[in-house]
Amino acid sequence: MGQQFDVVVIGSGPAGYIAAIRAAQLGLKTACVEKWKSPKGEARLGGTCLNVGCIPSKALLESSENYERVTEKFKVHGITASGVKLDVAQMLERKDRIVAKMTGGIAGLFKKNKITWLQGHGRLLGGDANAWQVSVEGDKGAETVLAKHVIVATGSRARHMPDVTVDNEVICDNEGALAFDKVPARLGVIGAGVIGLELGSVWRRLGAEVTILEGLPTFLAAADEAVSAEAWKIFTKEQGLDIQLGAAVTGVRRGKKGVVVEYQPQDGSAQTLECDKLIVSIGRVPNTEGLGAETVGLKIDSRGFIEVDDHCRSNLPNVWAVGDVVRGPMLAHKGEEEGVMVAEIIAGQKGHVNYATIPWVIYTAPEIAWVGKTEQQLKAEGVAYKSGKFPFAYNGRALGRDEPEGFIKMLADAKTDRILGVHAIGGQASELIAEAVMAMEFSASSEDIARICHAHPSMSEVMREAALAVDKRALNG
Ligand code: FAD
Ligand code: NAI
Repeated sequence: MGQQFDVVVIGSGPAGYIAAIRAAQLGLKTACVEKWKSPKGEARLGGTCLNVGCIPSKALLESSENYERVTEKFKVHGITASGVKLDVAQMLERKDRIVAKMTGGIAGLFKKNKITWLQGHGRLLGGDANAWQVSVEGDKGAETVLAKHVIVATGSRARHMPDVTVDNEVICDNEGALAFDKVPARLGVIGAGVIGLELGSVWRRLGAEVTILEGLPTFLAAADEAVSAEAWKIFTKEQGLDIQLGAAVTGVRRGKKGVVVEYQPQDGSAQTLECDKLIVSIGRVPNTEGLGAETVGLKIDSRGFIEVDDHCRSNLPNVWAVGDVVRGPMLAHKGEEEGVMVAEIIAGQKGHVNYATIPWVIYTAPEIAWVGKTEQQLKAEGVAYKSGKFPFAYNGRALGRDEPEGFIKMLADAKTDRILGVHAIGGQASELIAEAVMAMEFSASSEDIARICHAHPSMSEVMREAALAVDKRALNG
């Protein structure tokens, strides 16, 4: 008989590795199956997030912002630099070092928490509430382990377009787009979602001429409309991203040097976009192939996600699923919350995820962040609400930081004043939103935030002013 565990987690992305750590902390004998290999062939923990997602994209983001600061933005401070050079190889090496450090850090955490790392592809073979058999097929052969509980955390991969081969050299998904060896003169992007905007902005700052083709006629439909409108203005008019909405891509072919994209803009004419590199960022699909789902009868929904209830229970006893492979936003922190919840429920505790307070952040410059309902959602739901909005342009710290763009908008229930949503576009929005998340977790009213002392001068004062503005009594504007 193979090794026996209380919990076997399949996948070590943020949902899986956090589930494994929490299970181990709670005294459960835990293993985590992971098959990821680095480009050099080294076994790696951390999944999409650490290897080809959140962490490397934010490393490049910082490098590209520094480049733009030194070449453009410092001028206003009276600082000019000559002879500025861009060493893309060094930039990528720094990013790779951060990735290696973070993924190595998880290996360290596994050791510390006595979690067994089973290297290879995990597959459910069969079982019941007493024990599940999971096969692990690795370089050294296959083994079968037994688990009382299985947590599936197999994540997602980039959605590709039919008939368009992603080679990650010229036509790239997120993996290739994080590793261009030089700045493409002309970069094409299909999909103006989170990846398109974040990575499009990275390469624009470094000097690429960027065209983004978006299929929908609306821009950033998930965000509050006021934020989308402000972002549109800043990204297209001020920063020069060429974003074409309602563009139907009809063909993609490799040209002599780069790529030719054929598309129809909203006017229905036939257009071509020639570029040196193309990023295809049209969403992600859950990883459920080769998992043994059909063999064991694990239910998958029509969109390919593992079906789970509010507590991430699948249709099979003691089989759970968390992270990108289940419904809900494909965000690292959402997966982490689910991982903790499931581990705690398995250990006999009361796990819970408040899906209403999961923050969203888009790491463009300025950043976009929100939590809770948008104004258009409240309108559609017929909820009576009050709204307060305050611009960063009236905030001394924002001016000092040369980040006068954007605003924070707070939406509160018209009767109870309970905060229903907070929407930010501006510098440090990713950090500022934490206050709103906490306020909503504590069911705070806008009045609560308005009466909290915020340090001066700080960007966080804009949150307080937005709260005051809900009651039409902003102090500085
Ligand atoms: P994953 O991270 O995808 O991990 C799944 C793991 O399971 C992988 O390591 C895979 O190898 C392994 N696996 C799959 N099948 C098997 C199997 N059968 N056997 C063994 N192992 C298996 N989210 C944010 O919140 N903030 C961000 O800033 C952010 N930036 C992003 C930037 C980019 C470019 C991309 C692509 C994504 C970004 N995301 C971000 C999304 C985030 O990466 C995902 O939501 C997150 O990684 C999901 O975690 P997960 O654990 O569910 O899955
Ligand atoms: P996305 O869902 O954010 O955006 C995809 C965009 O492509 C949409 O606007 C969609 O309308 C468009 N689209 C789809 N098919 C198209 C087609 N055929 N032609 C033209 N446009 C088309 O997906 P994206 O950007 O690939 O990112 C995937 C996910 O990864 C995100 O939804 C998010 O969950 C996660 N992510 C999160 C980040 C963060 O939290 N900061 C950063 C990057 C990714």
